[in-house]
Amino acid sequence: MEGFSTYHLAAIFLFIFNIAAKAQGQAGAGPAAAPAPGPPPPLNVTAVLEKGGQFRTLIRLLQSTQLDERIRGQLNNSNAGLTLFAPSDNAFSSLSPGTLNTLTNQQQVTLLQYHIIPTLITLSQFQTVSNPLSTQAGDSSPGQYPLNVTTAGNQVNISTGLVNTTISGTVYSDDQLAVYQVDKVLLPLGIFRPSVPAPPPKADKNASAPTEGPSSRDSADASSTNEWRPSRLGLPFAVAVSIFYWSF
Ligand SMILES: *[C@@H]1O[C@H](CO)[C@@H](O)[C@H](O)[C@H]1NC(C)=O
Ligand SMILES: *[C@@H]1O[C@H](CO)[C@@H](O)[C@H](O)[C@H]1NC(C)=O
Ligand SMILES: *[C@@H]1O[C@H](CO)[C@@H](O)[C@H](O)[C@H]1NC(C)=O
Ligand SMILES: *[C@@H]1O[C@H](CO)[C@@H](O)[C@H](O)[C@H]1NC(C)=O
Ligand SMILES: *[C@@H]1O[C@H](CO)[C@@H](O)[C@H](O)[C@H]1NC(C)=O
Ligand SMILES: *[C@@H]1O[C@H](CO)[C@@H](O)[C@H](O)[C@H]1NC(C)=O
Repeated sequence: MEGFSTYHLAAIFLFIFNIAAKAQGQAGAGPAAAPAPGPPPPLNVTAVLEKGGQFRTLIRLLQSTQLDERIRGQLNNSNAGLTLFAPSDNAFSSLSPGTLNTLTNQQQVTLLQYHIIPTLITLSQFQTVSNPLSTQAGDSSPGQYPLNVTTAGNQVNISTGLVNTTISGTVYSDDQLAVYQVDKVLLPLGIFRPSVPAPPPKADKNASAPTEGPSSRDSADASSTNEWRPSRLGLPFAVAVSIFYWSF
């Protein structure tokens, strides 16, 4: 029986091992293979902006108008994605004093909606969009809420008719949401008509370029954390376009 115990025990162990391995393989191929991924939670725009570090005013406005909730819902329920132009804290603080406070609640909502395009636009896609863009503020006819872009290479300029600015960085970008930093608040004609006495900044006082400590530190942060980053589609698209041109 001694011969049995070593040789046969080994054989039995191998046999059991084989069965165990097979069972595991079958289990792996069965329902156990799906650890219930479920839909990813809707993107949290507030969290995205918090990470950017210099959008405190925008976050506060999105929360007070409850647009943050609406954006979350839109990202969850639409396949078109969303593009947000995010004015930095500096952009808000360089508005003439009281600009926001004189707005009604509804105007604040509209102002923010003017910064939102209800589709995803990658940096490279700005080269092919047609003006004026349709924002969530609605009516893009002249004098209302048109938003125009012009591009040259990676540079994307934005014009509202009252304000010219440029996209100064990509805060966030995936296949659902793009957040671009702008260093001016996009003032729409529909709210800030120039016919009223003192329209855009710098009209009343001779404010001599306020360059204070905190703001210059903020912009230093900006340049380190928000440098140009081509979005995922950007590079392949650029390559495809180059190949297209080279082949003619
Ligand atoms: C979104 O993120 C903000 C900031 O991190 C957080 O306060 C808020 O609770 C989040 N909202 C949801 C619905 O997860
Ligand atoms: C996302 O949308 C789905 C289907 O439209 C819905 O069942 C779900 O409750 C939504 N989730 C959130 C967090 O809004
Ligand atoms: C964008 O604006 C800058 C600054 O005003 C200007 O120099 C540049 O030519 C503009 N580019 C385009 C493509 O409009
Ligand atoms: C925006 O573009 C449209 C179409 O090119 C043009 O008619 C309109 O004048 C432009 N508006 C501004 C504010 O640049
Ligand atoms: C914006 O740029 C356009 C075209 O370069 C120019 O005609 C217009 O005067 C500028 N507007 C402001 C407010 O700077
Ligand atoms: C504007 O500047 C002029 C000349 O620099 C000065 O005399 C005047 O007091 C200033 N006005 C205000 C409101 O600061």
